[in-house]
Amino acid sequence: MPARLKNYICFALFCGLLLAEGCKKNSSSSTQSVVATLKASAPFPMGSAVTSNGILSNYYYQGVLLTEYNSMTADYEMKFDITEPQQDVFNYAPGDALVNFAAQHHFRMHGHNFIWHQALPPWVLTFQGDTSAWESLFKTHIETEAIHYKGKVASWDVVNEAIRDDNGQLRNRDATPGDGSGSIWRQHLGPDYIARAFVYAHEADPNALLFYNDYGQEWGGVKLDSMISLVTGLKKRGIPISGIGMQMHIDINADTTGIASALKRLAATGLLVHVSELDISVNPGADPNIVFTSALQVKQAALYQFIAETYRASVPAAQRYGITTWEFSDADSWIPVFFNRKDWPLPFDAAYKKKPAYYGLLRGLTN
Ligand code: XIL
Repeated sequence: MPARLKNYICFALFCGLLLAEGCKKNSSSSTQSVVATLKASAPFPMGSAVTSNGILSNYYYQGVLLTEYNSMTADYEMKFDITEPQQDVFNYAPGDALVNFAAQHHFRMHGHNFIWHQALPPWVLTFQGDTSAWESLFKTHIETEAIHYKGKVASWDVVNEAIRDDNGQLRNRDATPGDGSGSIWRQHLGPDYIARAFVYAHEADPNALLFYNDYGQEWGGVKLDSMISLVTGLKKRGIPISGIGMQMHIDINADTTGIASALKRLAATGLLVHVSELDISVNPGADPNIVFTSALQVKQAALYQFIAETYRASVPAAQRYGITTWEFSDADSWIPVFFNRKDWPLPFDAAYKKKPAYYGLLRGLTN
């Protein structure tokens, strides 16, 4: 072999060796430096409510979502006022942006929601018609939206917040005229509208998992009793309900015993249990001078940790639909806007950096 060729081969072998060593080093150092994420740590899907605006136009928002989560819920894009702004005129553009993103990045997509007493367009609020006209608009809305998203949305909150806080009755007429606490659905369609909503959704998309979603389970009392008897009653009748959503919009002073016992009772129904809209307010008293001190941050983190631990301890693995936070950054929380107060309810701060709350949640998923 000519000396030049020999030298060349030796040089090539030497380079190969260096390269292999480099790779080994890289792979071991990257293993060591792997940073835990929520989705990699959780033994169930980790979700967030997301907006189309966030995923389409906010680089930081997209980054956190893609790194930390594997399930998403439509924040407002699939609600009635957006999807059917005029009767029989459907608008899917905002929701389509979400399902396209979900498909592209392999997220589970949770639809929220078909039937709620809020987020209704004016034409529904002022609709005049007999029972069958109401039934027809109700059925058409559910079926049309469910068919559009068939195969793209894994699950739906079919009915949202149908039960009153004070007495566990179905929302019907407003407690005080005009206060918005009632439900036009119950008023016009009778108490069994909930069962029919599930049937219509199931007929339109038999593969979708269907949830009843509400808040306040952690208070116990009549509202929780009534929710449990509603879902167990539906199940007994063979109505296609798959699960129950516990929104968990709680605050820093939430009663942890109430959370634990609600999760156990929900699990005892045998249905899937979704912590569906978690956030933890630190300013429930709406103090305008509040400072988000490190003591408050630590307390919030401990509560996030408690929720994840208790969910794992109380809900059998096969019934865990996952934990979903309502957005993930304080910049995008509904609470400061909706309640017009300062607040910091989520695991990431307004600059999309991890808060102690994030690390609390992570500990709760892994401890
Ligand atoms: C909130 C949205 O995040 C806000 O953008 C909107 O202004 C009000 O609704 N319970 C629910 C969610 O089921 O749909 C609500 O979402 C938060 C409370």
